[in-house]
Amino acid sequence: MISLLLLFITFSLSKQCSEYTTNEIDTVDSAFECIESIETTEKENNDIITGLKYYLEAYVFKDILKNPPQPSFSNNYYEKVDIDAELNKINTKTTSMYDFYSQIKNLIISTRDGHLAFNVDKDLNKPNSELTNFFYFLPFEINIDNDKKMYLIPRKSLGGIPIDVPEIDDNQNIAVKTINGEDPFNIIREFGKKYLGLKCPHAQFTEARSAISFGSLSDTPLTKEYLNTPITITWENGESVTINYSIFKLSTPNKSLKELLQGEEVKQGIKPKLTPEEIKSRKEIGKRMKTKQGIIERYKSDDNNVGCLLTDNKINTFFIVSFDPKDAYVKSYEDTISKCIDLFDSNKYPIQVIFPKNGGGYGYLSRWVEKIISPYDDVDFIGSLRVSDFTEVIIKTGMGTGLYDPETCEVREKGINPQTLGEWYTKPKIIKYGDVEHKVSQPSLDKGGMMKLMKNPRKPTEIVVYTDSFCYSACSLVTKGLKEWGGAILVGYDGDPNGKDEEFEVGLSPTSVIGLNEIDKDNIFTQYGYELGISVTETYRFNYEYNESIPREFLTDMIDERVNIYSDPDIIDIFEEETKKIIEKYQTKCNPKNKRLVKRDEKCDKEINIEHGHGGYECGDNGEWSTKCVLAYCDDGYKFDYINNKCIEDVCVYPPTDDGTPSMTVNLVMIIIGIITLIL
Ligand SMILES: *[C@@H]1O[C@H](CO)[C@@H](O)[C@H](O)[C@H]1NC(C)=O
Ligand SMILES: *[C@@H]1O[C@H](CO)[C@@H](O)[C@H](O)[C@H]1NC(C)=O
Ligand SMILES: *[C@@H]1O[C@H](CO)[C@@H](O)[C@H](O)[C@H]1NC(C)=O
Repeated sequence: MISLLLLFITFSLSKQCSEYTTNEIDTVDSAFECIESIETTEKENNDIITGLKYYLEAYVFKDILKNPPQPSFSNNYYEKVDIDAELNKINTKTTSMYDFYSQIKNLIISTRDGHLAFNVDKDLNKPNSELTNFFYFLPFEINIDNDKKMYLIPRKSLGGIPIDVPEIDDNQNIAVKTINGEDPFNIIREFGKKYLGLKCPHAQFTEARSAISFGSLSDTPLTKEYLNTPITITWENGESVTINYSIFKLSTPNKSLKELLQGEEVKQGIKPKLTPEEIKSRKEIGKRMKTKQGIIERYKSDDNNVGCLLTDNKINTFFIVSFDPKDAYVKSYEDTISKCIDLFDSNKYPIQVIFPKNGGGYGYLSRWVEKIISPYDDVDFIGSLRVSDFTEVIIKTGMGTGLYDPETCEVREKGINPQTLGEWYTKPKIIKYGDVEHKVSQPSLDKGGMMKLMKNPRKPTEIVVYTDSFCYSACSLVTKGLKEWGGAILVGYDGDPNGKDEEFEVGLSPTSVIGLNEIDKDNIFTQYGYELGISVTETYRFNYEYNESIPREFLTDMIDERVNIYSDPDIIDIFEEETKKIIEKYQTKCNPKNKRLVKRDEKCDKEINIEHGHGGYECGDNGEWSTKCVLAYCDDGYKFDYINNKCIEDVCVYPPTDDGTPSMTVNLVMIIIGIITLIL
C-alpha cells in the first residue's frame, strides 16, 4: 500500500513527456522530468555495449589512442583512451536512457574525434527519439569583435516564442567584462573541452562559441547540474545580470516546425549515401546557413554552399561553406565552381579562400578545390584500414573498388562482394605505438579523376586561405594538403582570441568515415534507435615509400599567419584588407617555420636542375626569402618526392606495364562528410 502510494506521488509530480502539446520554453528541472523518464533496460544497454565492441574494431584510431605520439610542442596534446576499458566501465544497470547515452557520449568526446559518433537517429522513431526534441539555449549569441572583446547579441525568439531579457538588450553594444567573475572566454573554453570532441583548442573554441548558447540535448547531452548553474554576466559599464539556461521543447505533432528545426542539429550525418529524408533535412541546413552567413546570402548561388566574387578591392574571394551539396544541387554546385574558375581566370588579382566552419562533405569536391587552388598538389590520398571482421564487411560493400595499389595503380578489389579479399588486406602491415600494435591494410591510394582547372593559376604567395581551425574532414584534406605542398598561405581566423597561434591547426580529421546504418541496416543500434559513425580510413603524409606510421589525424599542420577576425564572414572587406597586407608581406617575408611554401621563380628551375622539377626560394630562418633555390613542384604526371628531393613518375599516368590501363573514374564510394554545426 505504502509503496503504491509513493509511486503515485512521484508519478504525479513528474512532468510527463506527453504533457507538452505545443512548442514550449521550459525550465531545466521541468524538462528533465520528461528526459529522465525516457527509459532503457539493462539488456538494451548491454546489447549496445556489445555492439560497440564489435563495430569499433573497425575504428581505425582504436590502437593509436592507447598511446598517441605527441607533437613537439606538448606532451599531452592527444589524450590517451583505451576504448574497450572505458566501455567496460560504463554503468549498464541504469534505466535512464539519458544517463546511459551521456556515458557513451563522454567516451566519444574523450577520443577528440568528431567523426566518431553515436547518435539518436530520430528517423527510426524509437522511444529515445523524444530526446531530439529538447534544445538548451541561453538568451543570447556570443559575438567577438575584432578588438577581441565579447558582446552578447540578444536572442529575441525561439521557434516563434518571444524571449526577453532587458539587461541583454540594453547592453548589446557594451563589452562583457566577466562571466562568473572570470575572463569571459573561459566559459567557452571549458564548454569546448568538456562537451566537444575536437583535438585543436582553437577548433573547440570556434565550435563552442555557438554551441554554448544553443544546441540539441541529443547531440550534446549536457548535465542537469551544468544547465542549472546560473551564469552571471558583468559588462564593462558595471551592469550585470544572472541568467539560467532554458530548454526549448519542440512539440512532436508539429511536423512543419520539426522539419524546420532539423537544421539546428549539431553533428549531422556521415553517410556514403543520402536517404531522401536526409536530403530534405540538409536542404533545411542550407537555408539556415544562408541566413546566418551574410556573405553567403549575398553572393552564393542557391543552396550551393559555395560561391565567389570580385569586388572593387581587386581581390577574388572564393568561399566554401561545405563540400556537401544537396542532391538536386550537385550539378549547380559544380557549375558554380566552374564559374568561379572562369572568374579567377579573367583577371590576375590574388585569390582569398574562406572556409567558414566548413563541415566537410564529398572527397571528390574537396580534391577538386585543392587542385584549383594549387594544381601541382598530389591529391591521391594514401590510406589504410584497421583489420577487423567488420572492416571486411565494409570493404565488401564496395570500398575496395575505390582503392588502388600505389606501386602499380591496380584496383585493390575488382568487384563488390569478393569471396576473399586480396593480399593488400589479408597480409596486413603492423605499426607499433610503443607496446600497442596496430594491424592495418597495406597503404592504398584513394584517387580522383581530372576536373576543370584554372588556365591562369596563381603562385602560392598570391593565394590566402582562411581557416577557423574547425575546417573539418574533407575541408581539412584541402588545408592540410595545401600546407604539406606549400600551395598557399594559410591564415587562421576566428578560434580563441587569446589562444596560442602555435596551436592553431589548419583543419581536423583528414579521415574517411562510414555511417553504420548505411552499411548494415539491421544492426543492433537501429533496433534501439541509434546510429554509429566510424572513422575507417586513416590517411598519411605524401611519402612515396608508403611507410608512414603516424596518420595525419595525429600530425598537426599549423597556420602561417593569424588575423583578428571573429565575426561571421559577411565582412568581406575586412578579409580583403587582411589579404592585401599578407600578400604584401609575402613579397619579402615568409613563415620561417614553413619550408614548403617557397617563392616560386623560374630562375630557380635552372639552378636546381632536376628533371621535370621546378623551384623557388626557400624561407630563411630570419623570416625573409633566402637566395637558396629548392625543388617546389614537378610537371604533370610526376609526383614531387619531397623526402628524396626528386620528381618521380606517377604510376597511374605512366603504368608499369602496357596492359591494365588505369581507370580514372571519380571515386564516389568513399566520401567524407563531417559534422555540420548550426546556430539559430
Ligand atoms: C506549428 O508551426 C507553425 C510554424 O511552422 C506555427 O505557426 C504554429 O503555431 C505551430 N503550431 C503549434 C501547435 O505549435
Ligand atoms: C535561475 O534559477 C534559479 C534557481 O534555479 C532561480 O532562483 C532564478 O530565479 C532563475 N533566474 C532566472 C532569471 O530565471
Ligand atoms: C621508409 O623507408 C625508407 C627506405 O627504406 C627509409 O629510409 C625510411 O627511414 C623509412 N621511413 C619511415 C618513416 O619508416
